[in-house]
Amino acid sequence: MSRPLHSSLAILALGACVVLSGCERPPIQSVQRGYRGLAMDELYNPRLMAASVAANKAPAPPGPPINEGAPASSVYKNLQVLGDVNIGEFTRLMIAMTQWVAPDQGCAYCHDVSNMGSDALYTKVVSRRMLQMTQQINSQWKSHVAETGVTCYTCHRGQPVPANIWFANPGPKRAPGMLGNRAGQNTPAPQVGLTSLPYDPFTPFLDQANEIRVLSTTALPSGNRRSIKQTEWTYALMMHMSQSLGVNCTYCHNTRSFFDWDQSTPQRGTAWYGIRMVRALNTGYLDPLAKDFPPARHGPLGDGPKLNCATCHQGAYKPLYGARMVKDFPELGAVMVPAAAPAAAAPSAAAPGVAPVAATSGVVGKIYFVVGVKEISPEGMRVIVETARMMIAQPALKYDLSGYADRTGNPDANLELAKQRAFAVRDALKAAGVAEARINLKKPEFVIGTADAESRRVDIVAAP
Ligand code: HEC
Ligand code: HEC
Ligand code: HEC
Ligand code: HEC
Repeated sequence: MSRPLHSSLAILALGACVVLSGCERPPIQSVQRGYRGLAMDELYNPRLMAASVAANKAPAPPGPPINEGAPASSVYKNLQVLGDVNIGEFTRLMIAMTQWVAPDQGCAYCHDVSNMGSDALYTKVVSRRMLQMTQQINSQWKSHVAETGVTCYTCHRGQPVPANIWFANPGPKRAPGMLGNRAGQNTPAPQVGLTSLPYDPFTPFLDQANEIRVLSTTALPSGNRRSIKQTEWTYALMMHMSQSLGVNCTYCHNTRSFFDWDQSTPQRGTAWYGIRMVRALNTGYLDPLAKDFPPARHGPLGDGPKLNCATCHQGAYKPLYGARMVKDFPELGAVMVPAAAPAAAAPSAAAPGVAPVAATSGVVGKIYFVVGVKEISPEGMRVIVETARMMIAQPALKYDLSGYADRTGNPDANLELAKQRAFAVRDALKAAGVAEARINLKKPEFVIGTADAESRRVDIVAAP
């Protein structure tokens, strides 16, 4: 009688081994992140953590920053971004950029070395825009990147093409017929943790500004606009965010109410700004650059490469575990724009569906316009409605509206158009419930640099 029992125990033990081999080897540690009993624990494995820390080390800078010398523009003639940087520091930055982006290819990756001033290579044109984008992130998005900031290395890690980029994803080919429409899902996809959730949560949420909501604020059946499908898309994005940071949902949420900001951690506020930052970088920089990239670098639908949370974070809760590389390269920091928003603080008690805002200064919303047009686009309206909600949630703050233009064509007409656009934004904010007394119209300004989307915009700036 005992024999069959033993062998079945052995089989059971073997079975347990097979099942458990799919799990991580102990020890697993947990860190409590909320009140006791709420299961707001972050689980991590020290062994895997050590490997991740080693893989996310910042390289040493090439010596300390150089503070003195004539501006680079006194020697070099085709500088559109770095003209005011002194020659020594300029050269130091070129060396660092080569190390960060193209260590194997060298200066020739971006330059025709017989004519350094030439813009013949697309890599140089893209890099110039990347310089502006990096400055923009460090000076205008302190609500997300704080003093840690980013350099080219944060995303590139010694490679011309960052490890984590995305294109609009048409999904796998499928046989026509009975199977029906996959609705952008029902295929295990790595970007959403190999679940069958929608495999392109990026286009609607990180390039376009669709609402990330599951809970409705009105009761059925009158006005509940939330569908199961919308919920699945939201969860797909949340999977991406968690994976990118190497954390669980409880890093930001209390799972008894995903929706409630009062029960969420301060990190959810930082993430909220992160979503807005990624959208602004994709629509303001990467999308317009698509025309400069050669066709080989385009996606299956012909769009250009774009970024998401993983592009910077690469599995770490702070990119490079919080290494402050930008302090060694002041020209990549707040060069053009002095004031910036402080880091996001704990979510405030906000009305349902209204995200918390901790910014007391800095740009809180940007509205882009089509060439020659003063009417606000549907995309612009979405930004305005969202920004208006944060403005209403922060009744103590006042806001400046600044319209921008460039000098192409008739500069005076451009300034007039910028003014009309600022009026349009003011009226839309009023319509969305913001008191007019809280809005201050600034004189329109010219944008330094090229004629592109950045020069056709109105900024909503929280004034301290
Ligand atoms: C990843 C791309 C990239 C790499 C690699 C790179 N550069 Fe540059 N370089 C640029 C960009 C972009 C500009 C223009 C900056 C501006 O418009 O302000 C520039 C401008 C220059 C200029 C000024 C040319 C002129 O006449 O206006 C010099 C000189 C220069 N780089 C030298 C170097 C050297 C030397 C190296 C290698 C150690 C190097 N660069 C590597 C992107 C790069
Ligand atoms: C926030 C992330 C981020 C930062 C910071 C960043 N880049 Fe990029 N970069 C990207 C993405 C995304 C692409 C598109 C990838 C592709 O080319 O497919 C890209 C593309 C490029 C390319 C074109 C590569 C190719 O061959 O297609 C160059 C060159 C480049 N970046 C240089 C720079 C330089 C120089 C800096 C710093 C001044 C910088 N980048 C900072 C995200 C970043
Ligand atoms: C890094 C922080 C972070 C992590 C990790 C995270 N979330 Fe979120 N979550 C957010 C933010 C921020 C929002 C609000 C987005 C917005 O309003 O733009 C949100 C919104 C949501 C919503 C919508 C709530 C509503 O208002 O209807 C749900 C549901 C949700 N998250 C579930 C999850 C799940 C499930 C996970 C784990 C797979 C997760 N989240 C991981 C930050 C996070
Ligand atoms: C341009 C690079 C970049 C991108 C893209 C980016 N982040 Fe971050 N993120 C940072 C930096 C830098 C920090 C560190 C800020 C600090 O030191 O407080 C950070 C910090 C955070 C934190 C706070 C971590 C903590 O424990 O304090 C969260 C949460 C976060 N990011 C979420 C996101 C989400 C979600 C996305 C995508 C929607 C995203 N980030 C995209 C650069 C980026």
